[in-house]
Formats: sequence, C-alpha cells, structure tokens
Amino acid sequence: MPTPLKLLILEDNAFDAELEVGQLQAAGYDCDWLRVQTREDFEACLDQPDFELILADYNLPSFDGLSALGLLNERGLEIPFVLISGTLGEERAIESVKAGATDYVMKERLERLAPVVTRALNDRLEVVKRRAAQQALREAHRRLQALSVRLLQVEETERRRFARELHDGVGQMLTAVKLRLAGLNPSLADYASRRSECVAAIDEALEQVRRMSRDLRPSQLDDLGLVAALRSHLDRQAGGAGFKPNFMHDGVPPRLAPEIETTCFRIAQEALTNIARHAHASEVWVTLAGTEAELRLEVRDNGRGFDVAAARLGAAAGRSMGLLSMEERATLAGGRLALDSAPGKETRLSLALPLIRASSGPT
Ligand SMILES: Nc1ncnc2c1ncn2[C@@H]1O[C@H](COP(=O)(O)OP(=O)(O)OP(=O)(O)O)[C@@H](O)[C@H]1O
Ligand SMILES: [Mg+2]
Repeated sequence: MPTPLKLLILEDNAFDAELEVGQLQAAGYDCDWLRVQTREDFEACLDQPDFELILADYNLPSFDGLSALGLLNERGLEIPFVLISGTLGEERAIESVKAGATDYVMKERLERLAPVVTRALNDRLEVVKRRAAQQALREAHRRLQALSVRLLQVEETERRRFARELHDGVGQMLTAVKLRLAGLNPSLADYASRRSECVAAIDEALEQVRRMSRDLRPSQLDDLGLVAALRSHLDRQAGGAGFKPNFMHDGVPPRLAPEIETTCFRIAQEALTNIARHAHASEVWVTLAGTEAELRLEVRDNGRGFDVAAARLGAAAGRSMGLLSMEERATLAGGRLALDSAPGKETRLSLALPLIRASSGPT
C-alpha cells in the first residue's frame, strides 16, 4: 500500500522536481504534489498549510531555500523541510540545519532523498505523539490538582458538618436529657411521662449517631458485601427523594476485593446523590452484574437529564466534584466510566471495573 504524501516543492527546474517525486514514488509514497518557484506562490501555499513535507531548492533565480525556511519559521509552521541543492557545501548545510531545516540532500545523491524523507516524517510523527502525551499528562495533572483542592474543601465542609451535628444535635440532646434526669423525682406525678421523654430523646440521639457513622462508612459494605449495601442505600435514598427504586443483580460474587467494593459503592453513592439532588426522577434502576472479568454497574434515572459536556467543563473549572471524583475513582481502579444524558432525556451511568477477586475477607 503506497503511503499518501502531500508535498510542496520549491524548485525552478521542472525536471529536477520530477526526479525527486520519482525517487519518493519508487520508495512507496503516493505523492500529491505542487511545484512553485517564486516567493509569492510559496507564501500563498503556506496560507493553506496542509502540506506534510516541503522540498526546497537551495538556489532559485529570484528566491532561495533558506528564505523560504525563514517564512515557515515566522509563521510557526512545523512542516518537515528538506533542502535540496547541487552546490551545498558542508558549512552551508550545517547553517541550514541550524536555521531549522529538517535535513538536506545533494542533487547528485538523490537516492538519499527517500530515507531522509521517511526519517523526517517519522520524527515529526514522534513529536506530534510526544506533544499529545505531554498535553494529556498536563491535563491529567490539572484535573488532579482541581480534585485535590476540591477534596480539601469537601473534607473541611464535612468536618464542619459533623462538628455541627455533634454539637447541635447529639450534644444538645444529651444536655437536655441530663437536665431532665437531674430533675427527675420518682415521687412526682408525671415521673413516668418524663422518663419516657428521656428515653425518646436518647433514642433520637442514638439514631443520629447511627446515621453519622453510616455516612462515614456504611458498615453493611464490610459486613454484608456490596449487593446488600447498595440495595439498602438505594432504598434509603428513594425514601428521602421520593423515587421508585429498582434493584437488580446478577452473577456478583459474594465477596470482592475491598477496593473494588468501595470504588463501586462510592460511585453508585455519588450517582444516587446526584439523582436525589438534581434529577427530579420518579424512578431509578440500579443494576449490578458480575462476569468472569468485570463488575458492571448501571445507574439509570428517568429524570430531567443534563448536558454532560457542559457539566464536565464546570467540574474541570472547579465548580463541582462529583463527576470528576467518579471518573478518577474508576480510572484508579483500572475501570471505565461512561455517562449518557441530555436535557429532557434519561440519565445512564455505566461503570465497568476489572474484577480482582478478594483472596481474603475485607481489611
Ligand atoms: N442524574 C442527574 N440528573 C440531572 N442532572 C445531573 C445528574 N447528575 C449530575 N447532574 C448535573 O451535573 C452537574 C455536575 O455534577 P457533580 O456531581 O459534578 O456536581 P454537584 O452534584 O452539583 O456537586 P458535588 O461536587 O457536591 O457533587 C450537577 O450540578 C447537575 O447539574
Ligand atoms: Mg454531585
């Protein structure tokens, strides 16, 4: 299969240009080429720069290869540029490479052209790949930074919330009970009802402590496993937000590696919190399925849907953390996460995690 190559040749001698193209075609390039001779024509070509390679004669009657290279550099174009000359001495050759030419070839040694071009194109490809990898790395770093900042904020907010709940909730209740107990006198007529009030207040405080501890780490996840913890969390969220819950599971091993269980649970938890907060859904479906290789989770709601790309941009700009943290958790566990939604459409989150079976129980 010939390799397509879009080629610009700066050359006053039509025969030389044909020779150059002939060399490249013999080496397997399918050249789509254009020959120009003047500065004006060369510049016009640079204005629509979809050329993959430039071959430039060193000496032309009214223009020269090095000036052409200067024009390329001025525009910041990084098209591989090979100088071709019959007269290029060693010093000039070095000078041209210093000026940014990719390579040079003597006209009397034109058989070097194809290997030089192949190397130039490969080098260029490498540069493009390296830049894309660097860009991806920078992007990942930026996301991680945004996430770290948000994590710290969330940690602080959570601490404040727990401190407030402890102080205003459990603390106040216990204080009230203490005062009531202090004033309790078995000889008083309302002794029985006062004692019942104290018991009720202690029950309320206990329930609050249970709720806080469940929020911190659902004990069902450790005690009963993912299926039970997820089902119970879905039912609790459904009760609070008023949607109809549907839970299905199929082929999920009774115990999985704790990090897989935690990752899956936390992602489902965030998805359900998002549904409760944003979706206005009347029905929600949670499906958990295990295959030999993967654990799959799907969380679907029939709510109002949203623009996923816009929400991702908002999250990347630091406006929210849920979507980012779900994606980071999935990536850290070697899995894949996909979100499918649009305004007015249902929302579907799909997660696939590679299944590493736990060799022992939870840690
Ligand atoms: N199931 C859903 N239905 C409708 N909109 C949703 C749903 N899930 C997410 N969204 C939209 O996507 C946005 C981003 O979600 P994300 O979880 O990142 O942020 P958040 O829930 O607003 O805040 P937090 O950082 O506390 O999670 C939400 O603000 C909401 O507009
Ligand atoms: Mg959220």
